[in-house]
Amino acid sequence: MSRQFRRAGPGEIESLLKIDPVAEKDTYRREYITRAVRAGECWVVCEADDPGVPLGYGCLDRSFFGEWFIPLVVVSSANRRSGVGRQIVSGLEQHAGAEKIFTSTNASNSPMRQLLTNLGYQHSGIVENLDPGDPELIFVKFLSRARIDRDGF
Ligand SMILES: CC(C)(COP(=O)(O)OP(=O)(O)OC[C@H]1O[C@@H](n2cnc3c(N)ncnc32)[C@H](O)[C@@H]1OP(=O)(O)O)[C@@H](O)C(=O)NCCC(=O)NCCS
Repeated sequence: MSRQFRRAGPGEIESLLKIDPVAEKDTYRREYITRAVRAGECWVVCEADDPGVPLGYGCLDRSFFGEWFIPLVVVSSANRRSGVGRQIVSGLEQHAGAEKIFTSTNASNSPMRQLLTNLGYQHSGIVENLDPGDPELIFVKFLSRARIDRDGF
């Protein structure tokens, strides 16, 4: 089934909050998602024939030392492992249109780490002391390099 990647609209903040189990109990996360949508920095993937129902979403901004950064990717639990996360990250890469893009995740987050490895991200540092005993791993992808690798020029 075909899916579309599009910018989230203010009218769907509530449905995005429902997708994310963290948002249920974390006010900071709820406020962050609300701000990101209002700033036009949040993108969703949905089925082409059901465009009003987001399957997952991701955010893109320049909060990381002025570089393009993906601070958050969330796929609804019912739609995981069907390529939605990959489509969100790839869509954000295309939208950034930059030479490189950064993201990060906890060391304990094997699904996200696997997804990033799968998409060609490289390790780019580590930040201790954000979550106790669970360092934040920074990743980068060199987008122009990836194009050269893929297209051979
Ligand atoms: C991480 C997350 C976004 C992945 O989304 P997803 O839609 O399930 O991922 P995809 O189906 O696109 O998977 C792409 C690749 O990622 C890897 N992957 C995804 N989930 C995985 C899992 N549970 N175990 C191992 N590898 C996994 C695989 O390599 C997969 O490719 P494959 O299915 O061909 O093997 C999703 O699990 C999620 O929303 N988690 C909660 C929020 C979160 O932790 N976000 C990341 C930090 S901000």
